[in-house]
Amino acid sequence: MADINNIVVIGAGLMGHNVAQIALMAGYNVTIVDIKDEFINNGAAKIEEGLKKLEAKGTLGEGVKASDIMGRLKKTIDLASAVKDADLVIEAVIEKMDVKKEVFKTCDENAPENCILATNTSTMSITEIATATKREEKVIGMHFFNPPILMRLVEIIAGEKSSDEAMDIGVEVSNSLPCLKGKRFVPKVLKDRPGFIVNRLNAPVQIYLNWIFDQAAEKGIPWEQIDADAAGLMPMGPCELADYVGIDTMFHVGNYYTETLSPDFKPGKVITKMVEENKLGRKSPQGFFDWSAGRPKIDKSQKAGLFSVENSMAIMLNEGCRLLEEKVVTGFKVIDDSNMAGMNTPGPFSAGKNQYEKWSKILEELADKTGKDYFRPCELMKSGEFVKMRK
Ligand code: NAI
Repeated sequence: MADINNIVVIGAGLMGHNVAQIALMAGYNVTIVDIKDEFINNGAAKIEEGLKKLEAKGTLGEGVKASDIMGRLKKTIDLASAVKDADLVIEAVIEKMDVKKEVFKTCDENAPENCILATNTSTMSITEIATATKREEKVIGMHFFNPPILMRLVEIIAGEKSSDEAMDIGVEVSNSLPCLKGKRFVPKVLKDRPGFIVNRLNAPVQIYLNWIFDQAAEKGIPWEQIDADAAGLMPMGPCELADYVGIDTMFHVGNYYTETLSPDFKPGKVITKMVEENKLGRKSPQGFFDWSAGRPKIDKSQKAGLFSVENSMAIMLNEGCRLLEEKVVTGFKVIDDSNMAGMNTPGPFSAGKNQYEKWSKILEELADKTGKDYFRPCELMKSGEFVKMRK
């Protein structure tokens, strides 16, 4: 067992406050750091609110009070002094490389020599963030899913220089953090590639969805009919889900993978126009649907015949095989398990190991039809060789 007692969480926003809460619940001494008193106070208030709810439900354990747990929380806007006794730092500041590097530099200059520095980045290179420090071997990715208290997955990502010891500590600490939905799943991500495991696996489905949205717009097919294609197969259809996640998020993610993986990820016409018109989905509250009166009622009586869940699974199987080809993970079971722990949906391999020939054909046809070569099946998928790589 690694000797980790003091954890510093930097950034008390959406992710940071929740990571701090589960670290407190696990018994660590936790310090939250942000740039303004208002932000750390807000973060601390949310942690307290969360703990009190759990206390009322009896989830904190017998005789354990929220106030006792809060007694182990410190808050400060002085990063340099906050990390003086830190054993592990978990950074969850805004997703900007220059800000992250500045934070890591300050941590490196002030934290004890053995302190592990972890980042919760979703899209940035761990290797690059580590260059801001003189302890690149002690820098790792520790990627939580939102909200960490409910999502079982934590991806532990190796930068080019991360040591095995730092990775093991990341895994051990993550496993010790409680999750209300069951046992944590904490895979090691062996290569620092865009999207890590779960975001990457799901990313190219967006290429398909963008194509469908643009087709529907061209042919005058109502959005409801696309969601009707998925009725009974997915909890939310593609249009409702895009609204729920945020059209701007979809747009930014598309641009990110355009730069890092393939130009085929470029956001389509429909999504681009919606962003320009500030139709960002649920939060705006207009997107494909109107959310002003809450979750939209969608007439799913007529299907468009455009979207197919099987095609999405084929696309994901191909991406999963690319993850194996790139040696991001060593076997497919970890990919499926990660998807279940991070997205609450099955990964593509359990069905795909018997379907890869049919699905490879589907993907070739889809590439021809859409002009998106990214859909073409990779060697590992076409050959079915991935089946031998279970673990
Ligand atoms: P957020 O905007 O809710 O919180 C970021 C916090 O960082 C803010 O409170 C901000 O004041 C603070 N901050 C900014 N600069 C700082 C500095 N120099 N020092 C200390 N604090 C600073 O953002 P959110 O959503 O919590 O994201 C944080 C990180 O987690 C990002 O890297 C994001 O990519 C990652 N992430 C986000 C997920 C999500 O679903 N929102 C999921 C997984 C990872």
